[in-house]
Amino acid sequence: MKQYSRRQFLKASALTMGAVAVSTGLSGCLSSSDDDRSISFSHGVASGDPLQDGVMLWTRVLPSEDLDRPVTTTWEVATDEGFSNLIHNGSIDARQEHDFTIKVDVRNLAPGQTYYYRFRAGDKTSLTGTTRTLPEGDVSNVKLAVMSCSNYPAGYFHVYAAAAQEQDLDAVVHLGDYIYEYDGNGYATDDAAALGRTLPADNDTELLSLTDYRKRYALYRSDTDLQVLHALVPFITVWDDHEVANDTWRDGAENHNDGEGDFQQRKLAALQAYFEWLPIRPVTDGDQETIYRTFQFGDLVSLHMLDTRVIGRDQQLDYANYLTGDGINAPAFQADLTDPNRTLLGAEQKGWLQNTLAQSTTTWDALGQQILMGRMMLPAELLLNFINPDPATLLPQFQELATLKARQLQGDPTLTEAEIARLTTVLPYNLDAWDGYFAEREVVLETARSLDRNLVVLAGDTHNAWASNLKTMNGDTVGVELATSSVSSPGMEEYLQLPMEQVMGAEQALGLLVDDLQYLNLNQRGYLVVNFSPEQVTADWRFVSTVKSPDYQVDSNRSQRLKVLPGAGNRTLVPVA
Ligand SMILES: [Fe+2]
Repeated sequence: MKQYSRRQFLKASALTMGAVAVSTGLSGCLSSSDDDRSISFSHGVASGDPLQDGVMLWTRVLPSEDLDRPVTTTWEVATDEGFSNLIHNGSIDARQEHDFTIKVDVRNLAPGQTYYYRFRAGDKTSLTGTTRTLPEGDVSNVKLAVMSCSNYPAGYFHVYAAAAQEQDLDAVVHLGDYIYEYDGNGYATDDAAALGRTLPADNDTELLSLTDYRKRYALYRSDTDLQVLHALVPFITVWDDHEVANDTWRDGAENHNDGEGDFQQRKLAALQAYFEWLPIRPVTDGDQETIYRTFQFGDLVSLHMLDTRVIGRDQQLDYANYLTGDGINAPAFQADLTDPNRTLLGAEQKGWLQNTLAQSTTTWDALGQQILMGRMMLPAELLLNFINPDPATLLPQFQELATLKARQLQGDPTLTEAEIARLTTVLPYNLDAWDGYFAEREVVLETARSLDRNLVVLAGDTHNAWASNLKTMNGDTVGVELATSSVSSPGMEEYLQLPMEQVMGAEQALGLLVDDLQYLNLNQRGYLVVNFSPEQVTADWRFVSTVKSPDYQVDSNRSQRLKVLPGAGNRTLVPVA
């Protein structure tokens, strides 16, 4: 965590009439406010950004009328479900200027404890939420559920429901694409009507204004599976691109054009709605653009949350800009790709991360961030087929190249130069990922290597499950990447138009062709459970059978477990039987 200065803390404490109230204990006996309007806790309760002594609480308090008048709301925190041992209470006004959302930063809590909380307004009481502070000192286990890419019209949020069944979660880590900005006919909306998950008429255009973004959060948070998970477990979140617009970078986005107005204004509106609707603690009071921060789980894990989108990212490279009559202008592309000035995190965040890693004393350092860091270098001819996928030729091509690769790995002396060239002429698959920011990835990996940290990178964004070993350009093994599938957004199977019977073949071929890739699942929606202990980290990918029907099962047929051990020389992924 960026350290609060005393001045900042006092400033925040004085802001009980602002966006966030700070609760330091009991404020005497608070009765529910008189309010003659009908009040509803329409979107449940949530907690987030746990610290060893604190946690953020969230709710929304909606009055039926007279919206200019605030709703006086009280909060209560107790160590028992019956609220007989009340340890915090206080009062804050829910106001239209914050979309009637309220946030309370509860402090002076004990580490590693479960707490119960609820809100009251008028004659209504919210449901009771449970939350947990971070553990302190000698910690033997930390269990996180990692998820990303929840797309309301694309499918049911069974993944949230399944995660809510997990026992002993310390936190949910949501790596972004918590909402999608598209209109009612946009990306992944084909099944929305059949699923009963169309966008409401007053919010079915692409999100541009603060009102648009607020309404989209309200829609997503009407989902009871999401509400239940929020009420059970504290969330630690970062945004990805779709909280603003597809492929967001510092000064623009693929899904933003001049006709949609000023990008900076749109971005600030989107980020304001994010801070209103998610239980995230501002790193600095009033700053809604900075979200990089660290969560420390005793002596076991430091979880460093990053922003690879908004605060620093240079614009993505685009192969279209390097195409010549007979292919790609490789020298020009390579020069730009490896430009040492090219940044993803921005100088300030990069410096912060390097300092934070240098000061870390925990067994494990985890990066909670959006995009794939593992190298996904694919044969160039395959990449061309990816741009306009043709299912009739894709799998045969996969298999042909995989067969060549298998022969190469076996040291087959009969491989021709032309065949070897087909394997060694490789290009990064996704220029929106760390693969498009070569030099900065090397800085991060080299920092972890030189500091001898045990690095575990968490990623989302792709809608598929992946696991990779992370190596420097010199081939030094630094750590591992564990990437979660999506909650409901469609994955590679849809993008590549892969029929079900070809999925496993494509997975085997890709796994062989991409050197650092240790595991992938190309077609299932799910989440990732990461268990940290002093001896090892285990990663369990769990999948749901469908997001297209109200009924589902956890599909254990293709669940997968990998582990990694700490210490130089050990930091590679190993299957667990
Ligand atoms: Fe996504």
